[in-house]
This record gives sequence, C-alpha cells and structure tokens, in this order.
Amino acid sequence: MSVIVFASSKGGCGKSTSALLLSTELAYRGLKVTLIDADPNAALLGWQDDGGKAENLNIIPSNEANILSDIEKSEKESDFVIVDLEGSANLCVAYAMSLSDLVIIPAKRSKFDSKETIKTLNLVAQQSKAIGRKISYSVLMTQTHPSVRSEGLRATLDSLTKNKINYFHTEIYEREVLRLIVDKSTTLRDLKIFVLKPHQMIARKKALENSADFAAEVLEKIANLSKKKSTPRKAVKKKAQAKNNKKPAAKKKTSAKTTKSKRAA
Ligand SMILES: Nc1ncnc2c1ncn2[C@@H]1O[C@H](COP(=O)(O)OP(=O)(O)OP(=O)(O)O)[C@@H](O)[C@H]1O
Ligand SMILES: [Mg+2]
Repeated sequence: MSVIVFASSKGGCGKSTSALLLSTELAYRGLKVTLIDADPNAALLGWQDDGGKAENLNIIPSNEANILSDIEKSEKESDFVIVDLEGSANLCVAYAMSLSDLVIIPAKRSKFDSKETIKTLNLVAQQSKAIGRKISYSVLMTQTHPSVRSEGLRATLDSLTKNKINYFHTEIYEREVLRLIVDKSTTLRDLKIFVLKPHQMIARKKALENSADFAAEVLEKIANLSKKKSTPRKAVKKKAQAKNNKKPAAKKKTSAKTTKSKRAA
C-alpha cells in the first residue's frame, strides 16, 4: 500500500542497512513487507540467499526494466513496499521515486555525503516536476554517534533546518551489531541466538530501540501523508481516472441532448 524508496547517489551511506532495519521492524509488527532489491550489487538478496529471513518479509530482485511493474505488483500484495537502490542517480532511481509515497535519503555527516544529498534532493525535485506531483522525502542521518554531537553533524542539521529540508529526528546510530546482522545474515531480534558478548547484547537492545523509533517516525510521516485527503500519489491517479471517466460521460450527455432536441424538433 505504501511505497518507501531509499535513495542517494552516494554509495555506502547506509541505504541497504536502513532499508533492512525498517523492513524487519515493520514485518515484526505484523505488517506484510516486500523489500525490492533493485541494486545490481544485490546486497539484500545476498542476505536472504545466505539465510536471512523474517516473518512477513519477502525480498525480491528488480532492475530498471521492471522496477515500475514490480512496485505496482508488490503494492497489491503488501502493506509496505520498500525499495533499496544503487548508490546512483540513474533511471531506475528516478522511476522508483516516481511511484513512491516517501523517499528516504540516508546521509552520513560528511562533506561528500552533503553534496550527494543535494544531488538526490534535486533528483526528487526534477521527478516531482516531471510527474506533476510533489514527491515527499526526508533525509535520514546515519552512522552517527548516540551521545557525541560532533561539530560536523550539528552544522549539517543546522543547514538542513535553514534550507527547510525535511529530515528524520531519529538517526541511525553507528553500531557494530548492525554490521553483524549483515555478516551473519540475520535480524537484530534473531541475533540473540548467536553467542554475544555482554556489550553486544546491550548494543543489540539499543539498536532495536533505535530501529523501533525509526519505524515509528516513518509510520507517523506516512500517516500524515494519508491525512491529506488521500496520498498525493493516489490523488494524481484519481485525477487521471476522473479525467478519463469524464470524457465519455460528457459525450453521452451531448448525444442525449442532441437526441432530445432532435425529438423536440
Ligand atoms: N548504522 C550503522 N552502523 C554500523 N555500520 C553500518 C551502519 N550503517 C551502515 N553500516 C555499514 O556501512 C557499510 C555501508 O552500508 P550500506 O551497505 O547499508 O550502505 P549503502 O548505501 O547501501 O551502500 P551502497 O550504495 O554501496 O549500496 C556496510 O558495511 C554496513 O555494514
Ligand atoms: Mg546498498
């Protein structure tokens, strides 16, 4: 029903990790999630192939040629469709954005990431223009420190606020356990079956809280989109349908009138 796209032209900014965290958290809450791995490097499909799984979660491959139909098909079968993309600003990214309810742009606090975030924001703006509706987006700061607010991070957040760029209040913190779930092809919840050191057990619990906060903020954003009459994407679809329906109806009316006036004559 809702389509969430993780996009950034910057590689390694945390798209796949954040997409996996969100997907597993939503699936844990009983929501049916299809995670589309449209990155040729197929990190998430690899995770699944190596045994990674969660109830209510299905990971499927896609590419530029099929992304539109894959999203539309998955949307019918799932509560959430989450799309993970290549670190690029290619056609596949643009197509996925065009069908999204929300584009999440992960970013690390670095000058390179800021430049690529702006590039991705520009792509969202261009796509919005191209399809004639405003695509909702939000920047997600990733791999930040849970307690240390660096100068760079503060400057980045100030700049986002100053430029009225929407961003998540939740940040995905840098944690070794998030690398472990990829290495061991497991989820944060299932990580407990592995022998963890005490500090890893604490980190796992904190990462679960962090992931729950992230999912809650995503759900809040999606709910706010739906509150506006209908989601913007549905509004465009409805408008297009109304346009299509209107034409034949108008024709019928004219022909009825013509018949009536003919009869009167
Ligand atoms: N919050 C985090 N804590 C610790 N490590 C992380 C975190 N987020 C990502 N990483 C690590 O950083 C690396 C890049 O992350 P990830 O693969 O999620 O980025 P990406 O944007 O999907 O990259 P690409 O563009 O290459 O697909 C991976 O090794 C991942 O394990
Ligand atoms: Mg990736």
